Amino acid sequence: MPSLSVFGAQWGDEGKGKLIDFLAENQDLVVRYQGGANAGHTVVVEGEKYVLHLIPSGILHAEKVNMIGPGVAVDPIKLLEEIDGLLERGVHVDGENLRLAAGAHVIFEHHKRIDGLSELWRGKGRIGTTGRGIGPCYADKAARTGLRVADLLDPTRFRERLGAALAEKNALIERVHGEAPLNVEEQIDLYVSMGDRLRPLVADVGAEVRRAYREGRSILFEGAQGVMLDIDHGTYPYVTSSSTGVGGIAGGAAFPPQHIEEAWGIAKAYCTRVGEGPFPSEIFGEAAEALRKAGNEFGATTGRPRRAGWFDAVAVRYAFDLAGASGWIMTKLDVLSGLEEIPFAVAYSRGSERWTEYPAHLASMDDVQVELETLPGWSEDITGVRSFDDLPATARAYVEHVEKITGVPIVMISVGPGREAVIRRSS
Ligand code: IMP
Repeated sequence: MPSLSVFGAQWGDEGKGKLIDFLAENQDLVVRYQGGANAGHTVVVEGEKYVLHLIPSGILHAEKVNMIGPGVAVDPIKLLEEIDGLLERGVHVDGENLRLAAGAHVIFEHHKRIDGLSELWRGKGRIGTTGRGIGPCYADKAARTGLRVADLLDPTRFRERLGAALAEKNALIERVHGEAPLNVEEQIDLYVSMGDRLRPLVADVGAEVRRAYREGRSILFEGAQGVMLDIDHGTYPYVTSSSTGVGGIAGGAAFPPQHIEEAWGIAKAYCTRVGEGPFPSEIFGEAAEALRKAGNEFGATTGRPRRAGWFDAVAVRYAFDLAGASGWIMTKLDVLSGLEEIPFAVAYSRGSERWTEYPAHLASMDDVQVELETLPGWSEDITGVRSFDDLPATARAYVEHVEKITGVPIVMISVGPGREAVIRRSS
């Protein structure tokens, strides 16, 4: 496929890493265009588990080119840790198969500090961020006070600019938050040395992606987080700070949007969310605990237990509509095995109001209730199933019904963590 966008259609953690690794097999380039090390994409290859935070999930395939686009917020410490971790495990990573955009903004130590301190300051209104400095870095980008990867490679200019930025950030850390300031010289030296290590990877990634497309090479755009966490379209302010959907590709990968041929959403057969904020189909108590356990729903980045709930057709339809999705992949269907019946949300209501389309105009979703329907479950272990026809009849009925109410064809179903645990329906 010449160009394919794969994005999360829920609140993140839909299992994108595994599917992107799977789909990368047939694509030449894998490009990240937003977010940063807040993402945690888990990929299992031949029983070996890899968790990728910044490096695109195509890195586990030989001969794929992986690109970190200008819209990504790059923490050089995390990136180098990730590179070293992969090298230690024998994965090939160098300036040939990993390219880093010169224009990507850099996450510094002060961004991470301020991320944590602002959360404390917000108290009950906290967002529940991953603490990776994402919000403060994108805030600096928008305020035009950020520094980019290219700046790391020019020590004289970098010294001056980081010095100026830290003068302000240290005042904030010290005078507003009452914490010890960062040592300016130490910070400058630390990041200059990282710039030296990253230098061989740095490129004009946008130009390279566009050139690859012109030359007929195939591209996979790897979304991180999910549409319901999108800065513009998600459950604001309980969102991340980037454009997580297909809309983020134009700016974040410097790629003309009219050349994006296919957009595939990824959604679990149920739903989870980490951090604070609205989650209309959330469940609590034993049922939530059972789902969390069966699906191993603990954050790949922070280890936090994820909140659990049922598939929400209203939110997923909204995500597909925003993306113009041409297909979607249902993940973790195997996790529902053993349930007597499977509930899923088909509408929202509040008092006398009712919505079957996502009510993005509401200031708050706090009092919104979901309307659930149910279908019969199945008891068989389906992790070994590779053909749709071999699924239990009730599992097929669930998939087909959910497909119908989302209005977008399901192209694949994932039934286990391994690369091979996939049922293809069409492509
Ligand atoms: P931030 O992106 O760290 O600022 O966090 C903002 C919100 O997005 C919080 O609710 C996080 O839990 C959530 N979030 C960020 N990255 C991910 C992810 O990769 N998966 C799921 N949730 C995420």
